[in-house]
Amino acid sequence: MKVTRIAAPLGARIEGIDVRKANEVEWLEINQHFLAHQVIVFPNQNLTESDHIAFARRWGELVRHPYAGMKDFPDIIELQNAGKQKDINQHWHSDMTYNKVPPKFTMLYARETPSIGGDTAFSNQILAFNTLSEGLRSVLLNLKAEHTAANLATQYRKDSEKAPNAVHPVIREHDETHEKALFVCRAFTSRFQGWGVKESQALLSFLFEHSVRPEFQARHHWQNGDLVMWDNRSVLHFAVHDHSDDEPRRIHRLQVEGTVPA
Ligand SMILES: [Fe+2]
Repeated sequence: MKVTRIAAPLGARIEGIDVRKANEVEWLEINQHFLAHQVIVFPNQNLTESDHIAFARRWGELVRHPYAGMKDFPDIIELQNAGKQKDINQHWHSDMTYNKVPPKFTMLYARETPSIGGDTAFSNQILAFNTLSEGLRSVLLNLKAEHTAANLATQYRKDSEKAPNAVHPVIREHDETHEKALFVCRAFTSRFQGWGVKESQALLSFLFEHSVRPEFQARHHWQNGDLVMWDNRSVLHFAVHDHSDDEPRRIHRLQVEGTVPA
């Protein structure tokens, strides 16, 4: 296994491993790299849908997304640039924080990728927390925030009462590494618990901007066969839709169950 960091703030590539054949010792090593680097890229994989599911299941149960999964594999959603899907994820977020128990990681497998563009950007929220002043950190450690799917998709915009929502601590302690990370995002965080929306806006706007400063970020340019996993407990991501509609982008997504943020 050869491990190469992909950017200063976060991320590593692991080469020389076929994830279908990883034994228990190799899996433990992969997990250590994942916890250390937060985003892992496994290039040149050759996975069926069942292989993708089997590898992710080594970490726990899968979480189904509210959008329709694939007909034969309901745990997998197929992201593609055909039709209306293109703009859905054009925002910084951690996946599904509007759930009481959001997934600990998301794992994407690239089946068709554009030659230029279509990157995924990541931002390290441990760094985001650590670079705040001691004064603001101590305020945030006592705050919780509301997360909602109300702005996520057309079905919830039509009927926002039905959108799932949850309250989470603004600073989340990682349940495995025990590092503290900022845990708010522009896509889903609506206000601080017990605060008005307008009252929340100024501080949230600052945090949304701070959380994605360029020096916290890494970008991944997709190749066919890339398997990528990122830690939703400490990473925000953004799918950059700057690729041409003439080239297909087709990526399979699933996510693994986490713990209640604390
Ligand atoms: Fe996402």
